[in-house]
Amino acid sequence: MTIPEPGGPDALLWSEVPDPVPGPGEVVVDVRATAVNRADLLQRQGHYPPPPGAPAYPGLECSGMIGAIGPGVAGWEVGQEVCALLAGGGYAERVAVPAGQLLPVPAGVDLVDAAALPEVACTVWSNVVRLARLAEGETLLVHGGGSGIGTFAVQLGVALGATVVVTARAAKHERLRELGAAHTIDYREQDFLEEVRRVTDGRGADVVLDIMGASYLSRNVAALAADGRLVVIGMQGGRKGELDLGELLAKRGTLAATALRSRPTGQKAEIVRGVQEQVWPLVEAGRVRPVVDRRLPITEAAQAHRLVESSDHLGKVLLTLG
Ligand SMILES: NC(=O)c1ccc[n+]([C@@H]2O[C@H](COP(=O)([O-])OP(=O)(O)OC[C@H]3O[C@@H](n4cnc5c(N)ncnc54)[C@H](OP(=O)(O)O)[C@@H]3O)[C@@H](O)[C@H]2O)c1
Repeated sequence: MTIPEPGGPDALLWSEVPDPVPGPGEVVVDVRATAVNRADLLQRQGHYPPPPGAPAYPGLECSGMIGAIGPGVAGWEVGQEVCALLAGGGYAERVAVPAGQLLPVPAGVDLVDAAALPEVACTVWSNVVRLARLAEGETLLVHGGGSGIGTFAVQLGVALGATVVVTARAAKHERLRELGAAHTIDYREQDFLEEVRRVTDGRGADVVLDIMGASYLSRNVAALAADGRLVVIGMQGGRKGELDLGELLAKRGTLAATALRSRPTGQKAEIVRGVQEQVWPLVEAGRVRPVVDRRLPITEAAQAHRLVESSDHLGKVLLTLG
């Protein structure tokens, strides 16, 4: 799926591109499904160029079967069902991927649905568990609980024994409570800071997973509990905000911001192995599941982008091939 000229959803064009060849340490995956991520919308608009070396077309994850194996790859076989974290290029019939970014399809998960997992599992685990060290009994505030990222973060937080509070539009609250959220905040009608204080008896949240950036920064810091950790992974509300260091300091708070796509492949491989070790058992036990809003054929990618742009979806929107 190429983008000859950046623009609206119709800028996506299903066209012939050369078949990828696996380089050293890579495999080629015959793609069965990929997923729409918010970043794909930005890339389509020309605002988020792929990192050096990545395919020019979008797609940060996929599921499918291994079609070819490059030199120096051990432990994977042609024909094996896998899902993969990609730096780009998932909107295609075939994609080359460093072997360290492959994951087996978790037992009990359909091959197509497995495409919903790599990006959210790696992002949420690396930020909420590895970086922010969410612990049992703590409170996790997830902004955008109904997003692909949010629906995964809610389930992982609950599985780790945290109390999960989410912000989301009201229409998504019932489903988020089914996924385990203890408190749902309608960010359009309610002040999330007041609500977080109310539901935590004034303590605040131990960990905040934020996708808004500047527009939520001061309230996120105010919503932190003592020793709280705020991790910013999105800037939907802008990139430049004002930070009250005095408030952060008094709380012994931590502020971090990370991006997965631009990490070196070695770091991605480390995260993927951590996800396989710590998250896949929870998926296989049914405690964390892919949340798929719908599947559309990849030739309808423009419609899928319109849906994600409207935010009327809950969880992931998948694009299927074959
Ligand atoms: N840094 C990283 O490594 C990384 C990796 C993956 C994703 N991300 C970021 O994570 C975010 C979610 O990605 P996704 O692909 O899962 O997106 P998505 O499914 O398209 O979801 C976007 C979400 O933003 C929510 N939202 C919009 N305005 C809001 C507000 N004022 N308060 C709270 N929520 C608000 C929407 O909630 P409603 O529908 O309820 O209105 C929607 O659920 C994006 O910002 C993306 O860039 C970052």
